[in-house]
Amino acid sequence: MKILAFGGSTSSTSINRQLANYAAAKIPGAEVTDLDLRQFELPIYSSDEEESNGIPAAAHAFKEMIESHDGIVLSLAEHNGSYSAAFKNLYDWTSRIDVKVWSGKPMLLLATSPGGRGGATVLEAGKATFPRMGADLKASFSLPSFYDHFSSEEGITDRELAASLQGAVDAFSE
Ligand SMILES: Cc1cc2nc3c(=O)[nH]c(=O)nc-3n(C[C@H](O)[C@H](O)[C@H](O)COP(=O)(O)O)c2cc1C
Repeated sequence: MKILAFGGSTSSTSINRQLANYAAAKIPGAEVTDLDLRQFELPIYSSDEEESNGIPAAAHAFKEMIESHDGIVLSLAEHNGSYSAAFKNLYDWTSRIDVKVWSGKPMLLLATSPGGRGGATVLEAGKATFPRMGADLKASFSLPSFYDHFSSEEGITDRELAASLQGAVDAFSE
């Protein structure tokens, strides 16, 4: 099973990309592609830009990455209660190719942040809208206070949170 794992962020040190890859590695038999959203360079979406120059190649490349995998593990970064601008821009452009952005793929949707709510607001936004945009949403999980609960050596250090993520991974894997 080919799994596409990425954070909804263009930070080189993205904690969401770390969490997505950590979760994807727990999927039995998964062959994981660690996707860095920084590879997709795009102008800010506007209808004028689309009319003048069409849909950028980077949006087609992102869509191709989705279609060439069997499942998606996405961890959303939260910026002011919503998606990061970089993720939203890529998402908007890709929706101009196909409104079913996620191509019907099974999705494990995550979020984390340094704060105690763990990106819960953006996670709810994704849960509410991604199924209408072609995601087969299997499970979700939010990791609060990332730096208190995650280490690169051990992964999630809190037992209850680790068990909760495992439950989401199991639901996805089924
Ligand atoms: C402009 C901006 C807005 C932010 N807003 C929120 C927020 O609403 N909620 C939150 O939990 N963290 C917020 N943060 C902190 C991010 O969660 C933190 O930067 C996190 O590392 C982002 O995930 P990433 O490392 O995967 O990019 C914000 C950060 C920035 C730069």
